[in-house]
Amino acid sequence: MAMNYSEKVMDHFTNPRNVGEIEDASGCGTVGNAVCGDIMRVYLDIDENNVIQDAKFKTFGCGAAIATSSMATVLVKGKTVQEALEVTNKAVMEALDGLPPVKVHCSLLAEEAIHAALWDYAEKNGLVIEGLEKPVSDISEHEHDHGHDIDDEEDG
Ligand code: FES
Repeated sequence: MAMNYSEKVMDHFTNPRNVGEIEDASGCGTVGNAVCGDIMRVYLDIDENNVIQDAKFKTFGCGAAIATSSMATVLVKGKTVQEALEVTNKAVMEALDGLPPVKVHCSLLAEEAIHAALWDYAEKNGLVIEGLEKPVSDISEHEHDHGHDIDDEEDG
């Protein structure tokens, strides 16, 4: 089935921004999509004024998940942790000129990965970010201190 992706989605899918990881990230969150099993991890570098200086991601998932994580990391950079909550999946989809309806769930993964990374940052620093809830899809606890990588997932 051919899907109608916007030019921006295709651009961020074929040329994703901010792929990679941040060593000693201020916050790192990994989430899983219950619908399809795809996984996304977001790293945030946050300065002492709670401003997001850098954001990187790794996504083991579909094209829409890659495009939305790319756009989400672009949008949160330069924002405070509080402002970053405004980077919802709707905001990311709008910035990408929309997604086909069957791909909307993929954009939730990007929002949740950002939230999981913010949650991690808040926990590490004893902060409360108003309006932030721990995403239910947060699977960070199953990891062993960055001991292994989502790239190392074995083929199931
Ligand atoms: Fe899994 Fe898109 S199909 S995130």
